[in-house]
Amino acid sequence: MSLSIAEHFAQGFGAPAALVARAPGRVNLIGEHTDYNHGFVLPCAISVESRVAAAPRGDGMIRVMAGDFGGATAEWALDAPFAPDPAQPWADYIRAMTAAMMARGHALTGADLAVNGTVPQGAGLSSSASLMVGIGTALARLAGLAIAPADIARMAQAGECDHVGVRCGIMDQLASACGVRDHALMIDCRSLEVRPVALPEGAAILIVHSGVARGLVEGAYNARRAQCEAAAAAVGVSALRDADLAMLEGARLDPLTLARARHVVTENARVLAAAEALAVGDLVAIGDLMAASHQSMRDDFEITVPRIDALVAELRALIGPAGGARMTGGGFGGAVVALCPADQADAVLGQLTYRKPDGTAPLVLRETACDGAGLIMM
Ligand code: GLA
Repeated sequence: MSLSIAEHFAQGFGAPAALVARAPGRVNLIGEHTDYNHGFVLPCAISVESRVAAAPRGDGMIRVMAGDFGGATAEWALDAPFAPDPAQPWADYIRAMTAAMMARGHALTGADLAVNGTVPQGAGLSSSASLMVGIGTALARLAGLAIAPADIARMAQAGECDHVGVRCGIMDQLASACGVRDHALMIDCRSLEVRPVALPEGAAILIVHSGVARGLVEGAYNARRAQCEAAAAAVGVSALRDADLAMLEGARLDPLTLARARHVVTENARVLAAAEALAVGDLVAIGDLMAASHQSMRDDFEITVPRIDALVAELRALIGPAGGARMTGGGFGGAVVALCPADQADAVLGQLTYRKPDGTAPLVLRETACDGAGLIMM
């Protein structure tokens, strides 16, 4: 039986933890690569999560033990500048989070930390964002600081952009920090307003990991973001959120830039429509929107891969008109999300023939929407 994170902590540090924080991963139902264009997204927090056991230290040092990497350890001084450790890349996310919190002027205390998690890595389900939000939640409480969940999310995003080197948007961190049980979150990524939308009763969220790892995609991700920013500049808006198709057509963009921008503009409209469809439980409309979203990611934004296209097509065929499937997350591999009537879920998964590149059956999660980060022991 695997040890709980509090047990790992006690074994590793020889004393009990003062608290345990959790922060969930997320699945995005629709709205991909819209967040950094100041647009709309519709994710929900899910049951797989990162956990952080913590106790304060008086010497301003952070010492971390990774429950998932054979008990590997790392340590640094809170007031030292961020420096990546190529030997322990898992710790860079934690270093980035402490650096971002210190940069915002938060008076953190040193800490012993043990971390582990159940978010599959490389699946596009935000294992790194959930780890950083979990660290922020634990360290804020250890230092007696009342930091709003959305601010923890913002610091996690800043840490990832400034130190890890992915110019990500705010969706993953906000979903992990602000999730609401049984609800998706309609997030306006410009105002950061988070509006919970109840998931239809009797609808199942299925996640199937293609087994195509999302390794080393920072370059492709940042390139997409740069193309979007170039499109916005050419159209004369501060972000593609403010553009429509007519403006794109009038701006004489080159074909590639036009295609990238068209994905963002049409995807924003699909998110707004999906939130309305979700609110009235219209799984047929949602299925059509998911199909259009996937097609746009495949043809205009070019972030899908053939295996994922095949997995989405198979799920869509098995589910039929009430519900749908699309790739979720940053792209170039990772997982597919599907919505379908709950009483069909077993049949759909039972008939799925998709196999990972190594020929074995894919990892499947039947998910429910969960609450955002918080403390589970203190
Ligand atoms: C990654 C990023 C998010 C978002 C998605 C794509 O998950 O971290 O900010 O851009 O990709 O929608």
